[in-house]
Amino acid sequence: MSSSRKVILGLALAAAATLASAQTSVISGLGRPATAKEIAAWDIDVRPDFKGLPKGSSTVAKGTDVWEAKCASCHGIFGESNEVFSPLVGGTTKDDVAKGRVARLLDPGFPGRTTLMKVSTVSTLWDYVNRAMPWNNPKTLTPDEVYGVVAYLLNLGGVIPDDFTLSDRNIAEVQKRLPNRDGVTTRHGLWPGKGMGNGGVPDVKAVACMKDCATEPTVKSFLPDYARNAHGNLAEQNRMIGAQHGADTTQPAGTRPVAPAAPAAAAAKPSAAGDASALFKKHSCNACHSVDSKLVGPPLREVAKKLAGRGDAVDYLAGKIKSGGSGVWGAIPMPAQTLSADDARTLARWIADGAQ
Ligand code: HEC
Ligand code: HEC
Repeated sequence: MSSSRKVILGLALAAAATLASAQTSVISGLGRPATAKEIAAWDIDVRPDFKGLPKGSSTVAKGTDVWEAKCASCHGIFGESNEVFSPLVGGTTKDDVAKGRVARLLDPGFPGRTTLMKVSTVSTLWDYVNRAMPWNNPKTLTPDEVYGVVAYLLNLGGVIPDDFTLSDRNIAEVQKRLPNRDGVTTRHGLWPGKGMGNGGVPDVKAVACMKDCATEPTVKSFLPDYARNAHGNLAEQNRMIGAQHGADTTQPAGTRPVAPAAPAAAAAKPSAAGDASALFKKHSCNACHSVDSKLVGPPLREVAKKLAGRGDAVDYLAGKIKSGGSGVWGAIPMPAQTLSADDARTLARWIADGAQ
């Protein structure tokens, strides 16, 4: 390196250092730099080339135990349940493992699209389970437990044999047996790759208007009224996950959701009911329950109906809310909830009163 370049580089580094310290002082009092540990806890993505994959291993047999303890209640013993989500396993064949394309994806007569039919990178399966499952307790699995349940799922799909040990060292070999590994395509308008034959030009084009621009958007097409509710009320069919709730299709488009009219009893003690429904959201009960339709757990009004006339209903429910339960409403257990005894009682009283 010439000496003049050294100087310039030195200056640049000094400038960067000044900038960095200036930035720290600008945000001082507002927070602190993330620690290396915090960044490591956040930086968990596993790429298709397996960069980011933690070392570890586990067997199909050990994975079966983890599966039965932590996954089967929602996904079924064989990953076949569609109770909370589409089945994870099924629909793949030996031939798919050999060819790398899942033939049934092209068969409109086949009734479903399971995870193993669609996933084309085993890293995605590993990453997703590691970051998001079990759904009610994400990021609690050790790397070895993730290897185990992923091995279990792959074994059910005929990708690896019963006596297999899946590890960071052989996962790349397993990728070569994933049934839909060659099923990815960029031949579509959403992400046009070279395969589109047009050099990768997107099929829509945004042109920013810079002059005499229309201030009101023009809607060019509408869903016909008769189609809006053609599949029943979408608001009642979607799972209550995240912000993606279906529209109430029993109402005309553009109508704001109407709050149900408060019955007289609730109106008499608005704060108690208000508190309880705020707690219901605060403690994420609404991830699994709705007042009058079945989600993962029973509709709260059904719970109230079932217990009507039972003197100890509030005690019983407060206990159930704190410790969880199983077998009363079906196969899926309710995990124990972390909340104060007071909150549990407020919720129990509200539910016993009909969850108004
Ligand atoms: C309390 C219920 C519940 C439990 C327990 C649970 N899951 Fe899930 N799982 C879900 C739900 C709900 C989804 C869909 C999540 C979504 O779409 O946001 C899902 C999605 C998945 C998917 C993604 C499927 C896809 O095609 O996108 C995988 C893989 C999965 N779960 C594996 C597991 C494993 C492994 C365990 C155990 C360690 C587990 N799950 C435990 C409810 C659960
Ligand atoms: C991960 C999903 C999940 C969450 C979160 C959850 N529940 Fe549940 N809940 C269930 C399931 C599943 C059942 C049915 C259990 C059974 O069959 O015994 C249930 C049952 C119940 C029952 C009926 C108990 C009985 O024995 O009849 C009440 C009351 C209840 N939940 C209230 C709550 C409240 C309040 C919260 C929030 C603090 C909450 N749940 C959070 C899934 C959940």
